[in-house]
Amino acid sequence: MTRMPPCDVLKIGDLPEAADAAVTATFAVRAPDDDLASVRGVARGGGHAPVDRALLDRMPKLEIVANFGVGYDGIDVAAAAARGIVVTNTPDVLTEEVADTALGLLLMTVRELSAAERHLRAGKWAASGPYPLTGTLRDRRVGIVGLGRIGLAVARRLDAMAVPVVYHARHARADAPYPYFADLHAMAVDVDTLISILPGGEATRNQIDARILKALGANGVLINIGRGTSVDETALIAALKNRTIRAAGLDVFADEPRVPAELIAMENVVLLPHVGSASVYTRAAMGQLMLDNLTNWFSKGRPLTPVPETPFPPKKVD
Ligand code: NAP
Ligand code: 8YV
Repeated sequence: MTRMPPCDVLKIGDLPEAADAAVTATFAVRAPDDDLASVRGVARGGGHAPVDRALLDRMPKLEIVANFGVGYDGIDVAAAAARGIVVTNTPDVLTEEVADTALGLLLMTVRELSAAERHLRAGKWAASGPYPLTGTLRDRRVGIVGLGRIGLAVARRLDAMAVPVVYHARHARADAPYPYFADLHAMAVDVDTLISILPGGEATRNQIDARILKALGANGVLINIGRGTSVDETALIAALKNRTIRAAGLDVFADEPRVPAELIAMENVVLLPHVGSASVYTRAAMGQLMLDNLTNWFSKGRPLTPVPETPFPPKKVD
């Protein structure tokens, strides 16, 4: 085993049990209210607590921020990069889980499975007859917004279900056999179902707005498993109320864990509490990768999965 020099690490948010125990056993753990002057690493667990410039400024010796999760929109990566701090995330280990959840959410929404279950539990099946017939995937055409690791895994599942797929991202992928739309609005006109698996942050904020929802049309279904901030939630609520679109399935929200009361009151939405990766198996793998990034950094001087904004080795500046 490689020896680890003694080292102070700030822990924010919750980690799976094994990763939490390993962080505590391996490092001198600091809490956000402590003096952070000696901190060299951050273990950022779940809960999406921000790692902003103000927090970074309290850690002059900081070398690495290891994020538990693939999305790192709550971390000021520009500020980290400017100081030469490496930011790491947990790609790949959660891809298949989140894609499974996306497909579950799609089926729950189109086939109204949670509403049908509510019908049974309320005694309505016996009292007033079967649940009404629902929509289907058989006549749908899906536009994936953000064909990255997870988007591609969602597309593969839809292939197996014989559902046609097209996609939008900023770049076309040479390795993807699906038709590409450079323009999101043009794709929304072409399909009746959008599955968004976009990262958060300013670049994607409110990308799915009233105009996109209108283009999707009255039979439209929106699934969002990426980040809540990429959908204009007020416009979505209006579109669902006015039946501009038919239904939505949401795992993520603009201001988690707060979910607008209007959405909770609606029958034509399926709402999940950000559980895309939330199996014991996958969360353990994410925790392990977060930990491995920290231990590799402090024992071997290199991270395993740095984010593109803080590449390793760092890019040379002329
Ligand atoms: P990824 O491989 O980096 O894929 C991101 C995709 O989004 C790429 O296709 C990228 O392509 C596209 N994209 C990025 N910025 C864009 C923009 N401004 N406009 C249009 N397309 C854009 O990431 P991933 O591993 O698939 O994860 C995607 C996101 O899913 C994460 O960032 C996270 O926010 C979310 N997530 C949610 C859960 C959950 O529990 N619900 C779990 C895991 C991840 P281009 O670069 O070509 O644009
Ligand atoms: C986690 C996620 O729930 O990886 C991500 O980007 O959104 C989820 O897998 C989250 O990061 C932990 O809070």
